[in-house]
Amino acid sequence: MSDALAIRDLHVQFHTRRGVYKALNGVDLGLRRGEVLGIAGESGCGKTTMGLAVMSLLPRNASIPRGQVIFDNKDLVNLPREYAERVGDRFKPKEHERILRRVGKALARIRGRRISMVFQEPMTSLNPVLSIGFQVAETVYVHDPALLARRVLARSKTTPQIMREVLTLLGATQGGEAALRKFAADHDLVGLEEQVLFVWRREDVHISRKEKAIRSLAGQSMKPWERKIIETVAKSGSIPPQFARVPVLSKLVRRILLKEGSRKARELLTSLGIHHAERVVKMFPHELSGGMRQRVVIAIALANNPEIVIMDEPTSAVDVTVQAQILELVKQIRTSVSASFIVISHDLAVLAEVSDRIAIMYAGRIVEVAPTAEILHHPLHPYTQMLISAIPTLEGKSVEGIKGEVPDMRAPPGGCAFHPRCPFAFEKCNSVVPIDFRQGDDQLVACWLYEGK
Ligand SMILES: Nc1ncnc2c1ncn2[C@@H]1O[C@H](COP(=O)(O)OP(=O)(O)OP(=O)(O)O)[C@@H](O)[C@H]1O
Ligand code: SF4
Ligand SMILES: [Mg+2]
Repeated sequence: MSDALAIRDLHVQFHTRRGVYKALNGVDLGLRRGEVLGIAGESGCGKTTMGLAVMSLLPRNASIPRGQVIFDNKDLVNLPREYAERVGDRFKPKEHERILRRVGKALARIRGRRISMVFQEPMTSLNPVLSIGFQVAETVYVHDPALLARRVLARSKTTPQIMREVLTLLGATQGGEAALRKFAADHDLVGLEEQVLFVWRREDVHISRKEKAIRSLAGQSMKPWERKIIETVAKSGSIPPQFARVPVLSKLVRRILLKEGSRKARELLTSLGIHHAERVVKMFPHELSGGMRQRVVIAIALANNPEIVIMDEPTSAVDVTVQAQILELVKQIRTSVSASFIVISHDLAVLAEVSDRIAIMYAGRIVEVAPTAEILHHPLHPYTQMLISAIPTLEGKSVEGIKGEVPDMRAPPGGCAFHPRCPFAFEKCNSVVPIDFRQGDDQLVACWLYEGK
């Protein structure tokens, strides 16, 4: 099976007054379907830049001179590269505004919808003047209004008799998701299944109340002309441009769909362990604790049922107890959501908790990638070995820092970028960039020590 996402030979540069920073220097990495891939490396090695490049959200002084990000047989960086070629080494944002707009439009169908990102700072990625419910609702409204339209329509078409059949099906299949999805598709009620499953999976509600709540989903009232408009949105997959031109229509669509979005926000927040979600959706970011804010940004990333979720330092802004809760949450999400995850952290211990595989990054390149147990117990690359020995343990063994300085990315060292700090460096390391060598079943290491082994 092909990878969910493949990054090939990706180069990213930042154009600044002090020179060109070569933040990524040939990243090669594949994200397998359904896996959690951890990315570790010291501060400034390019982890966030890689996430932003995949999302095509790099700042405007960035360019992508080489490389590909393949998702669903498309190269996501092709359009920004066209931009980079025109920019060359000079940066003129105003002149390139039109190209940037075209790039943005083409990527809107993927970004936030099929690939989403939890940004490094939860406080700065939430809007301080908008309620939490609105921010989650708006994410779905902007990226996938048809999803909200289908949910409202499904409720309006459902009868008490259908709900009785749904409850029988749930009892017979022990809440079987596949069976319920098929039932909803067969009865032209797509959008109902996620609402039913949300109630069914709640652990804080007694079964008798669950059944009552599921029955009450039937028969959402809607005027016939409202229904016609919402049906058009559900069918066309987006808000048709003719609606946008008529203020009364666009306002009506917005009102109905944002209300539905708020309902989805309550479901999402509850499923992510936030109690009294009906109250939380009315709150503003500053009223929430750090842990709750982190859950909200995770909810926003999951709101459109994406295929790939990139989490950038999901635990760096919270204390250790909340960190444990967030890691538990990530583990729970990966079993309940059929997405693939990239989790970025400078903390290997955090990644060890949640990742299936870990990739180690140094100076804008992946130097080693392997299953978590291999990275922890049999690290091959000298840099990985030093990172592992820098993890503090309870046995009180002395912790060794990594000697030397992080390279200046305006003029990264030639050959292997780690050679000025590497105790095993030999002549070839100074001049030739190491290629990936396969070791064992599933370990790749970019180091000349493993050539011919
Ligand atoms: N807009 C920018 N302009 C110039 N240089 C930038 C810009 N953004 C990032 N950089 C530089 O690119 C390099 C990689 O930054 P990046 O944020 O990807 O690192 P990181 O691995 O995520 O670090 P951290 O662990 O601190 O988050 C750094 O040297 C940084 O200074
Ligand atoms: S290629 Fe050479 S310098 Fe680089 S990590 Fe391996 S031994 Fe060290
Ligand atoms: Mg970062």
